[in-house]
Formats: sequence, C-alpha cells, structure tokens
Amino acid sequence: MLGPSGDAVGALGLLPWGVGADGRALDAGAGVGDQRTAADLHGEAVHAPWGRAASLAFLWPSNKGGFGSEIKVGAIEDIKTAIADGNGFAYYPEGRMWIVPYPEEALSKAQAVYSPQELAGMEKGILALYQKCPHLGCRVPQCETSQWFECPCHGSQYNHVGEKKGGPAPRGMDRFAMTVDGDNLTVDTGTIIQGPAIGTNTTGQEAEGPHCVTGGSAH
Ligand code: FES
Repeated sequence: MLGPSGDAVGALGLLPWGVGADGRALDAGAGVGDQRTAADLHGEAVHAPWGRAASLAFLWPSNKGGFGSEIKVGAIEDIKTAIADGNGFAYYPEGRMWIVPYPEEALSKAQAVYSPQELAGMEKGILALYQKCPHLGCRVPQCETSQWFECPCHGSQYNHVGEKKGGPAPRGMDRFAMTVDGDNLTVDTGTIIQGPAIGTNTTGQEAEGPHCVTGGSAH
C-alpha cells in the first residue's frame, strides 16, 4: 500500500504555488524533477463522461510509474484507516491525489451524476480527487475544520467529495478513474475525469466548522 502523506511538498521537493509563464498558476504537484512546463499542464487529458464537456486533450506519459500511470493504492480498509488518521483526508503524493470517504447514503444520488469509473470506488466508500484546482491550477488543501477542500489562491471551496460550494471555479474538483479488484483499489491517474457541474450536491454536506479560507466570489 502506498503511504499517504500530509507533507507532499517536503516529501517530493515540490514547487509551492508556482505561476507559469502565462500567468496561470501551476499545480504544486509539478515538482523540481518534473520537466513539465505551463504549456504541458494546459494539455492534460480531462475526460468528460455523462455529458460533461471535455476541455483539454493530452495524455501524460504513463510509462514511468507515479502520476500519469495506474497506481495500486492498496486495500480499501487500509485506505479508510489512512483517511481516519488524516482526520477525513488521505493524501497520496505519488498520484497527486486526495482520497476521501463517500457516504453510502448518498449513492443513489451519485449514480445519477457520476460515471461507472467513478462509482467503482464510491460504491466501496471512497473517492480519488485530483489535487489541482479546476480554476487556475493551485493545489487544493483540505480544511479539517470545515471538512471541505478550500483553495487559498482565489477562495474556491468544495465539499468533502469535491463538489463545488463557492468561489470562481468552473466546476467541482476533477477526479480519477478507479477500479476495485477484490478489496484492492487501483487509481488511474492517467484518466482525469472532469469534475461535476456547479450545483451538483449529492451529499448535502454543509461546512462542519470554521472555514480555512474566505470564500471567493464567482467571476
Ligand atoms: S486556483 Fe483555486 S480558486 Fe483559483
């Protein structure tokens, strides 16, 4: 099983809050040893099932392992333990992803919104979210007090399962295709699935405590 980490920058030597030559904020997952440019980031593949509009088209090479490849994360029970240890959030720097719980009672709503590639994990109670904010690409941190994701760059907020709640982001957080073999989860970080449309709220989760950032206004 991969080890979750709350210290991706330290673990991987990642560049914090970078800004590309075109002024677009870079994903903090673009590390020093990662030769991607801002133009590369613009080309990441984002799949759009179930009527969600695709916006980008480039497949990150998957022959080097790590981000862009299929990652065998491990046993689902171990992942749930890691989520509990992380106060509701497990971070996997290898996949530039958060894995969070998905509530069983919300599955009937989820089945009307999410694709089979997403539901494969959700039906087992977990969900893999891409760390990159769909607004301008900052790494979105967890907010343990609200139990949301809250982006410090421009204040976009997402609920615990990455559905947009506020700020300028054009949609919910993007996510990855998942497969479950027995009790083991594999996340395909080469298949980024566009986040759900604004207004999607399958869990009805409100903030559970103080916010970590002030919500930004849409623009
Ligand atoms: S990059 Fe996250 S709100 Fe702008």
